[in-house]
Amino acid sequence: MKKADYQRFKGKKPVLVGLFLLAFLYLSPSYFSQGEGLFKAKCATCHAVFQNGTGPKLYGAVQRWEDAGEGDLIYEWVRNNAALRASGKSKRAAEVFAEYKGSVMTVFADLTDDQIKSIFDWVDAQDPDAGGGGGGNLAAADIGGEEDEEEGIPWTWIILGVMFVIIIMAVSGVRRQLKIATKESEPASTSLTYVDEFKIWAWKYRLYVGLATLVLVLSVVVTLFQTLYGVNVMENYQPSQPIAFPHSVHAGINGIDCKYCHNSVTKSKSAGIPSVNVCMNCHKKINGEGKEWQGEINKIYAAAGWNPNKGPAGEYTGDTDPIVWNKVHNLPDHVYFNHAQHVVVGGLDCKQCHGDMAKLEDLAKVQPHQALNLIEENIAAGVEFTKPTLTMGWCIECHGQYSVNITDGKSGYYEEIHNRLKKNNYNLLNKYTDDGKVTVGELGGWECAKCHY
Ligand code: HEC
Ligand code: HEC
Ligand code: HEC
Ligand code: HEC
Ligand code: HEC
Ligand code: HEC
Repeated sequence: MKKADYQRFKGKKPVLVGLFLLAFLYLSPSYFSQGEGLFKAKCATCHAVFQNGTGPKLYGAVQRWEDAGEGDLIYEWVRNNAALRASGKSKRAAEVFAEYKGSVMTVFADLTDDQIKSIFDWVDAQDPDAGGGGGGNLAAADIGGEEDEEEGIPWTWIILGVMFVIIIMAVSGVRRQLKIATKESEPASTSLTYVDEFKIWAWKYRLYVGLATLVLVLSVVVTLFQTLYGVNVMENYQPSQPIAFPHSVHAGINGIDCKYCHNSVTKSKSAGIPSVNVCMNCHKKINGEGKEWQGEINKIYAAAGWNPNKGPAGEYTGDTDPIVWNKVHNLPDHVYFNHAQHVVVGGLDCKQCHGDMAKLEDLAKVQPHQALNLIEENIAAGVEFTKPTLTMGWCIECHGQYSVNITDGKSGYYEEIHNRLKKNNYNLLNKYTDDGKVTVGELGGWECAKCHY
């Protein structure tokens, strides 16, 4: 009888461990952070989780579509709401569109079913009772990296907690068995500590414990790499600015060179943001009088301490109040990025990383990699991004695809290396140039220390 009990328990263990592994893989935090990343990057500008905004709250949206008997169509809706509406086959589409008359949702043709599911799974996993609606009220301007990390943690903890409970349950199971087994033979061993029991248990099921540990380690590594390479937290980031500064009017219509305002871009690591004096070079005269944007110019005057109505042609009052622009592109402190290296030595155009700012009527934002793939210079260079802008994968991808011309004589530095290799190590030169090009990566652009302090 006791033996049978034990056997049954033993027989179940592999099943238990298997289930637990599956559950663990399924709940892998990277899956949720994908949904979260996508939601924040693509949906949060119009949708909150728990509150209606430009678009309806997304919490329970899947349920609403299932209630209408159109659970499958919600994917089509997200990919192309206009087409679904036009097809006339969805009641819910017509309904929700009528409710939000005048607002049209963006088309997301490139989202896969899995990605859409991950968004809704993440949304529906949010806690309606959590203070203020936990991430539900994100305005576009709040989408930053920090909240992401904070919200990412609970899942990891929940999973670790579940694992802990399972281990405790398993250990107490062993404890019971040990008691049963030792009652007859060795009563003294009831004084075993939990740690000893755990060791015995772990050794007994070493295969499964080993596998579980392996899975745990792998998931941590995968999550880490996904975070480094993929999770989309920066694309489309567009913080509010103190003055509605349109790049299109300046760099586009009026053809002002980027370097006029970002004047350190060819000389140093950072491009620099112009001080208010630079604006005043032109805006002392261009005062926007009678234009609807005159208020914006008045903000420049307030910042510069300029009173246009004082004296015959205006006067500085000395009462200045610097403009505090919000940073749009922001790499973590441990990353070294140098503009001069890319713009001067690499000969890259600003567009290749920032998109066509001269056509940007809106505030500056981090362009999604899909938009960068349409830039002529990137197509010509054979660069095609699959990783989100400003992630490590994004830098690595360009360095792997972009070839440096080492023989055009423009860059004396590479010319010299080239000639040296030709003389001393023809094989090495061949190895690098066998595919007809030398990429930035082959020249060292893939070395950790080049980008990390
Ligand atoms: C530009 C604003 C905008 C963006 C961005 C946006 N939506 Fe919408 N969404 C709307 C509006 C507005 C509606 C209401 C229907 C309409 O007017 O077309 C809507 C409706 C919906 C609905 C139907 C809700 C219901 O209760 O039936 C779903 C689901 C949805 N959106 C999902 C998404 C997802 C997922 C994303 C991100 C991938 C997204 N939306 C991005 C504006 C947007
Ligand atoms: C008349 C001055 C002016 C010109 C010309 C100009 N910019 Fe800017 N740029 C600004 C100001 C001011 C900001 C800060 C406000 C903002 O972020 O929108 C800015 C912001 C930016 C940003 C985002 C900065 C960040 O915080 O990450 C980029 C990228 C940028 N400019 C690129 C360009 C490029 C490329 C060109 C040329 C096509 C250009 N700019 C021309 C004034 C200028
Ligand atoms: C080299 C000259 C020049 C500089 C420098 C310059 N601007 Fe302008 N700005 C212009 C011109 C030209 C216009 C368009 C005037 C018009 O259309 O009547 C303009 C228009 C504007 C407008 C209104 C555009 C609109 O259509 O809404 C704003 C706001 C503005 N500038 C802000 C700034 C700020 C802030 C700076 C400093 C960072 C700056 N400008 C620097 C030349 C300049
Ligand atoms: C190889 C990609 C790349 C190219 C090419 C590039 N940038 Fe940048 N730019 C970046 C990155 C990455 C950042 C963020 C830097 C950081 O946070 O340290 C950035 C930041 C900026 C900023 C914000 C201020 C700063 O210096 O951090 C401005 C302004 C800017 N770039 C303007 C330009 C202009 C103008 C050009 C063209 C002359 C240009 N960039 C070319 C990648 C690029
Ligand atoms: C659009 C393509 C492109 C992107 C995106 C890009 N780079 Fe580069 N990078 C280049 C090119 C081209 C060079 C080679 C310049 C040269 O000839 O030395 C380079 C060189 C470098 C170097 C010097 C490598 C060496 O061997 O000395 C560093 C460091 C670097 N990049 C960092 C970054 C970082 C960090 C990012 C992401 C934030 C980034 N790059 C994104 C194209 C790119
Ligand atoms: C071409 C430039 C480049 C190279 C080469 C590079 N990295 Fe990175 N790395 C970055 C950038 C940019 C980020 C920031 C990405 C982000 O914030 O999402 C980053 C982030 C990281 C982080 C994550 C830290 C964090 O804040 O999440 C680690 C760890 C890391 N890199 C390790 C490495 C290792 C190890 C190597 C060498 C095998 C390496 N990197 C090579 C550009 C580079």
